[in-house]
Amino acid sequence: MHKSIIKVFKRTSKKVPVWFLRQSGRHIPEYFNIRSKANNFVDFCLNKELVVESTKLPLKYYDLDAAIIFSDILMIPWAMKRNLTFVEKEGPILNPMLPDVTTIDKKINIFQKLSPINDAMCILRKELPKNTSLIGFAGAPWTLACYMVEGKGSKDFINTRKAVWNSKMWFNELIETLIIYISQKLELQAKAGADVLMIFDSWSHMIPNYFFDDYGIKPIAKIIKILRSNNINQPIIGFPFKAGSNLIKYSYESEVDCLALDWSVDLDWALLNLNNTIALQGNLDPASLIPVESMFLEENVISILNKMSKRNFIFNVGHGLTPECKIHNVKKVISIIQNFK
Ligand code: CP3
Repeated sequence: MHKSIIKVFKRTSKKVPVWFLRQSGRHIPEYFNIRSKANNFVDFCLNKELVVESTKLPLKYYDLDAAIIFSDILMIPWAMKRNLTFVEKEGPILNPMLPDVTTIDKKINIFQKLSPINDAMCILRKELPKNTSLIGFAGAPWTLACYMVEGKGSKDFINTRKAVWNSKMWFNELIETLIIYISQKLELQAKAGADVLMIFDSWSHMIPNYFFDDYGIKPIAKIIKILRSNNINQPIIGFPFKAGSNLIKYSYESEVDCLALDWSVDLDWALLNLNNTIALQGNLDPASLIPVESMFLEENVISILNKMSKRNFIFNVGHGLTPECKIHNVKKVISIIQNFK
């Protein structure tokens, strides 16, 4: 099948499919009840019942074409014994990596460590409506390395960038190890019933441009090559957040089947410059869903739908929904899509 006609999602009608990054989370009040049943966020991600419940939660509110497994990209660093915790108002905290190859744990059994994800996915596969695609995901090697080197989030990931210029051998070893674990995590989810896989490179805009190929594109192509050689053939969505003009090369060389566009991308530019044999997703600014009423929201949704009308396109936001997002706005967007002709 030629890539241009790959339908990324199962579809019942001609309408544009829709789902939202971070659709399950703090903008839905019941999320807090589910979350309070676990001692901490990592335990939450390892509890198959709670994972199933939170994955299904947004489907109670919204008519969505996909459910994304409730988990976190940092479960791989957790499996690598980086001592992951999530601190309220601060975000994730990990043991920062030392620039020494012996600190990279190469003997992790991802299938065993992340078996609750497998269990939750198997349950979801049975319980989700037939036409709802189930999405599995992983963080990209660069983004996971950013958190592992820094030990936390950062505005500029200066220690990670320093590591790239300083000790390439060590950093490359970390990236290569992550490529293996990420491929295994995606394989696990594909085998458990994921219809689509997504790779989040949330910090791709922190890759020094000189190294974009090495850390932003080649690792993704390697992961996809490993998956395809293991007969994992699900469509793969790549999300190189704010990669700017590097999106062109990424669209041709990363081997993804669908490119997720962040909210800074100009869609006319995207249509003109990006590989037109792959599908596109995204672009709505999640901040547009925060005001109680924005006079621009409907206009923007319709403009995205018009521009993308001739492309294989999945409607989505261009980054995750925030806790301030209003449920009525998400419903409004879905209804505009459903009524669009
Ligand atoms: O999309 C979904 O609904 C599925 C679940 C999902 C979560 N994290 C749950 C989560 C997904 C797909 C992710 C991916 C993720 N995690 C990314 C890539 C996407 C992006 O936003 O760029 C990143 C960078 C992370 C790392 C991470 N996890 C951070 C920085 C934080 C803390 C800041 C924050 O947004 O809360 C998390 C915690 C996290 N992951 C929460 C959720 C619902 C909030 C935890 C809570 O309840 O307090």
